[in-house]
Amino acid sequence: SKGNYNHFMLKEIHEQPIVVAQTLGKYIDYSKRSIDLGDLPIDLSQIPRVTLIACGTSYYAAMVAKYWFEKIAKVPVDLDIASEFRYRDAVMAEGGLTLLISQSGETADTLAALRHAKEKGQIIATIINVDGSSMARESEMVFHTYAGPEIGVASTKAFTCQLSVLACLVLATAKAKQSLSQEDEQQYVKALEEAPSLMSMALTKEDQFKTVARDLAKARDILFLGRGVDYPIALEGALKLKEISYIHAEGYAAGEMKHGPIALIDENVPVIVLAPSSEIYEKTISNMQEVLARGGKIVLISDDAGLQGYRDDSLATIELPKAKSFISPLLYSIPIQLLAYYTAIAKGTDVDQPRNLAKSVTVE
Ligand code: M6R
Repeated sequence: SKGNYNHFMLKEIHEQPIVVAQTLGKYIDYSKRSIDLGDLPIDLSQIPRVTLIACGTSYYAAMVAKYWFEKIAKVPVDLDIASEFRYRDAVMAEGGLTLLISQSGETADTLAALRHAKEKGQIIATIINVDGSSMARESEMVFHTYAGPEIGVASTKAFTCQLSVLACLVLATAKAKQSLSQEDEQQYVKALEEAPSLMSMALTKEDQFKTVARDLAKARDILFLGRGVDYPIALEGALKLKEISYIHAEGYAAGEMKHGPIALIDENVPVIVLAPSSEIYEKTISNMQEVLARGGKIVLISDDAGLQGYRDDSLATIELPKAKSFISPLLYSIPIQLLAYYTAIAKGTDVDQPRNLAKSVTVE
């Protein structure tokens, strides 16, 4: 049931601190602050290359993981949309790991990609939310997300649980490959441990999201900008908004604005900027300045330090708690989900059953 919430989507958004903690708890030994995936049928230290494949929101989780795998585990990663992968002649590394990510475990394109990768001799692992799904049955290794049933067509809690499992897999791979000191492992685990409470804090900003969403609801087009691990979150923000509010939205790597999309900017195009105060904060902000200089309307989402100097009427701001950049995709998922939700509410669309969409896409 929806409990005290008007929609499953809102309920599922609010469940995230709990289900993320639950999921992390399955892969982390908190007493030692270390990752523990249990016994695996393969040796992660021997993996030459990882291929990540998924559709939709699950694909954006894979995209975040590419940044993590390469930075932390130093493993090269190929990233594919399932419907593209199955029809292209991907050159795959011998003994490579193909990791498919799916909430339902039934998405036709992802299942076909799994079979295709298997034919190419890949080791097959899946991250799925639904027990006993087709993909789980056909893989060598299954990593579960413990999000519980996700009813809303727009994926929310499954996404942040996928990110949680991926983060643990990346750390386990980094450990196996000896590219992670024990001290660093503890730091990363500590960051993950803090994620659920930071997400809870973000969820208390509901009024701010509602206010901003009332303006967004008037727009015809909206852009989302982010860099690094927050770039996939910008893409996810645009997808979420499109799905449930039917407003045209696009996510861009902030540095790409000047290569084309900046031509779209005028006072009618809101631009949502995800800019936690990290090492790339200044770069994102300078891209935001380029938009401001052309009369664009900005919604800046950042932490206290990142909002210094912007608390005036020139732009709208949403403040999130400060987080380590490693976990910022988990935290910054909350504002993009709530902005999509409240924008759809302001427009009066059917949030849980958006037009033309199905929860699980079992046709090609
Ligand atoms: O069940 P899956 O994770 O394989 O589904 C993949 C996509 O169909 C799904 O994420 C879709 O994009 C959602 N409606 C996004 O909110």
